[in-house]
Amino acid sequence: MANAVNRIGVLTSGGDAPGMNAAVRAVTRTALGRGIECVGIRRGWNGLIGSDFIMLDGASVSHILSKGGTMLYTARSDEFLSEAGRKKAVATCRLLGLDAIVAIGGDGTFRGALELSRLGVPVAGIPATIDNDIGCTNYTIGFDTACNTAIECIDKLRDTMQSHERCSVVEVMGRHAGFLALYVGIAVGATAVLIPEVDLDFQRDVVAPIQRARLSGSTHFMIVVAEGSGKATDIGRQIRDELGIDPRVTILGHIQRGGAPTARDRETASRMGYAAVNALAEGRFNQIIGTRDGRLKEIPIEEALEMTKHLQMDRYEVLEALQNRVRV
Ligand code: F6P
Repeated sequence: MANAVNRIGVLTSGGDAPGMNAAVRAVTRTALGRGIECVGIRRGWNGLIGSDFIMLDGASVSHILSKGGTMLYTARSDEFLSEAGRKKAVATCRLLGLDAIVAIGGDGTFRGALELSRLGVPVAGIPATIDNDIGCTNYTIGFDTACNTAIECIDKLRDTMQSHERCSVVEVMGRHAGFLALYVGIAVGATAVLIPEVDLDFQRDVVAPIQRARLSGSTHFMIVVAEGSGKATDIGRQIRDELGIDPRVTILGHIQRGGAPTARDRETASRMGYAAVNALAEGRFNQIIGTRDGRLKEIPIEEALEMTKHLQMDRYEVLEALQNRVRV
């Protein structure tokens, strides 16, 4: 059967995420394998507006599978938010003969993709963000790597906190969501995890867990704070004021967005890139490639952007259940 597209563009947009390169490689190689030309659009939607592109062949995506970041660069585009900016992007698509765009990024990227599709350029979306906060998919590329990076950092912090019998307050990313903080908190055996999904009650969420840990023999405490639930520096100050202990505050920051992607991110990104091109080639336009129960699923972009995802609070219960070493 003939392909529904002959030449496609691929771009990465928004915050980078480990595994984006693996997705770019998969898109390129799947396209080439089906006889579809592939153009790399650099610097996200800004690149589409400004005609900033490179031709991609099989060799141009060699040796990127294992690299963090994105070889296409990324950006957050203010100009694309305006109709004038989007019209320029459509003009670039016409000029370059692009029949469709594969957009790799988060929900902001997909909102841009939806607008582009409304102007007559078909799109496919691949979810990639360390926050895992996209409603239509269980999993987003980059989350696993970011979790592992944060865990590695916190394990190191624990060594020194344990030696000095201190309290550590660690802020992790996640934008408005607590996925990263909660998964990491469980994996490092945190004393407490503060997430935006739970309104902060300082006595219940910080003081009581520290007291329980102390009563069960612990002399060091690890408090993980999701950036969306407040500033780690404020929590540290409050701990000092209310408990009279002298915590050390660490903001992990952008280190969480770097590094070689894990097996899960490489494998998921490769499958998603493959699926996105197949969807376009077979005429299934304007779909997001999400995961549901471990399998890939195509979700119409409009519907996808309406979907919300909630943190499974049973994970929070697991965290609490495992904090207590004795009954207190
Ligand atoms: O969305 C990914 C993310 O890293 C968030 O966790 C964080 O809030 C934000 O991006 C940081 O963005 P910037 O790159 O603009 O500092």
